[in-house]
Amino acid sequence: MTPRKKPKVYITRKLPDAVETRMRELFDAELNIDDTPRSADELLRAVTTAEVLVPTVTDRIDSALIESAGPQLKLIASFSNGVDHIDVDAAAKKGITVTNTPNVLTEDTADMTMVLIFAVLRRLIEGSRVLTEKPGAWSGWSPTWMLGHRISGKRIGIVGMGRIGTAVARRAKAFGLSIHYHNRKRVNPATEEELEATYWDSLDQMLARVDIVSVNCPATPATFHLLSARRLALMQPSSIIVNTARGDIIDEAALIQLLKDHKIAGAGLDVFSNEPVVNPKLLKLAQEGKAVLLPHMGSATIEGRIDMGEKVIINIRTFFDGHRPPNRVLP
Ligand code: DGY
Repeated sequence: MTPRKKPKVYITRKLPDAVETRMRELFDAELNIDDTPRSADELLRAVTTAEVLVPTVTDRIDSALIESAGPQLKLIASFSNGVDHIDVDAAAKKGITVTNTPNVLTEDTADMTMVLIFAVLRRLIEGSRVLTEKPGAWSGWSPTWMLGHRISGKRIGIVGMGRIGTAVARRAKAFGLSIHYHNRKRVNPATEEELEATYWDSLDQMLARVDIVSVNCPATPATFHLLSARRLALMQPSSIIVNTARGDIIDEAALIQLLKDHKIAGAGLDVFSNEPVVNPKLLKLAQEGKAVLLPHMGSATIEGRIDMGEKVIINIRTFFDGHRPPNRVLP
């Protein structure tokens, strides 16, 4: 039997060296070693020449692009957990399989959620800025200076109790927070018992009763502005919100207004509605110490990126071996 030709794989962004080396060995891989942004024309060339497209969250793989794909494109093996940048329905209609890289980002993203909670409640960035941006301005310890809020004893309300939400809950419980969650369906009783978690069927009621809201659900049409102006207004003035999921789950303009009006106490955001552009009003709020902003770093660890690359490789190899890839995403 003649061995199959290596599949032609187009990768849109620079990936860790170890992943690129492996991809070169296994595939006829077109890499992006200097990470130059790919234009719409280049993506069009990719979908009309490659058998596999490996996009990331920064690429718009919309229905127009998918409809322009040639018959050779068989697989979109996304280097991402979320697939909101891909029109999965359009891909299915065209007979193109879509895969993602779940599980390997869970712990890192949950860690970053906790980092944001601590950064907002304990004023980490403000404190650090006193030393780094105003050298000499620190006149020493004072009983009433730079006071934040105690973490333990607070109530966290997790919106979306999937893998990442559950990992956040485990960490939060270890820090003495009581766990509340809202999810499409209740998690299994053993997990609820382990976390001593309270399930809220009504998101509205949960928002009104917790001190920290953590957004951990996927971005889908159903979760677009799930945290709407009306819902955000239900939060207590002393409460904070953190988001390591996707910007569009929160109505950003409404959040900005509530922060400005002191209707909620703070926000920790790793994701934004219009990335990489960040609303200047949010930047101003961050300068004033009302928000901590990070540039979509939730899953940014070396280990995580290598694991994501391994998942992409396994998905591609399994697909071309004629089997169902382990991380197939269904519409
Ligand atoms: C993902 O893969 O969905 C992450 O948001 C990227 O950090």
